[in-house]
Amino acid sequence: MHKTTAIYPGSFDPPTNGHLDLIERGSKIFDELIVAILRNPDKDPLFNVSERVAMLEALTGQYSNVRVDTFDGLTVDYADKVGASSVLRGIRALSDYEYELQMALMNRKLRPELETVFMMPAEKYSYLSSRLVREVAKLGGSVKGLVPELVEQHLRGKLDPAFKLEEFRAQDARSESRKSRARKKA
Ligand code: PNS
Repeated sequence: MHKTTAIYPGSFDPPTNGHLDLIERGSKIFDELIVAILRNPDKDPLFNVSERVAMLEALTGQYSNVRVDTFDGLTVDYADKVGASSVLRGIRALSDYEYELQMALMNRKLRPELETVFMMPAEKYSYLSSRLVREVAKLGGSVKGLVPELVEQHLRGKLDPAFKLEEFRAQDARSESRKSRARKKA
């Protein structure tokens, strides 16, 4: 039987519960779903590409038909390279529609055989975006329930100097106790 592969391209800076909701939905309708992170040297991201790959891999580990990859250049060329027949994108509200329509039609112009499939995330995530998560987290607001706990921890690690100091101290204490155990053994 013909296998359907879809790519889910995006920035994922950081991944949100809305992204994960869409990944779960996509994993149910495609045989294989590739979460494709755009490597975009023009942007100044909060998380570098390796950090985003690591987070998304940890967060999608339970889906056997989902994998995480990175790409640059045109989405349509990447889709062709990995043998994908569809591009999955989420539409939250009417405001997404115009931009998504433009992208879908431009991608269709570039590669007519590639279909864009839109899915709607759960309505509780309809106002959620990575940009707002970054802004709220940077300004000290809570993003609980908007991003997975793992992402929350990474945000705290990145943005909260006190948290970084605590982490550093904990790491330091762990390495000290390893050293003292080694000294006792010697
Ligand atoms: O999560 P985002 O930032 O909304 O994702 C946008 C993305 C990565 C899907 C879009 O910028 C993209 O496809 N970029 C790759 C370059 C490309 O193909 N441009 C033409 C698309 S019409």
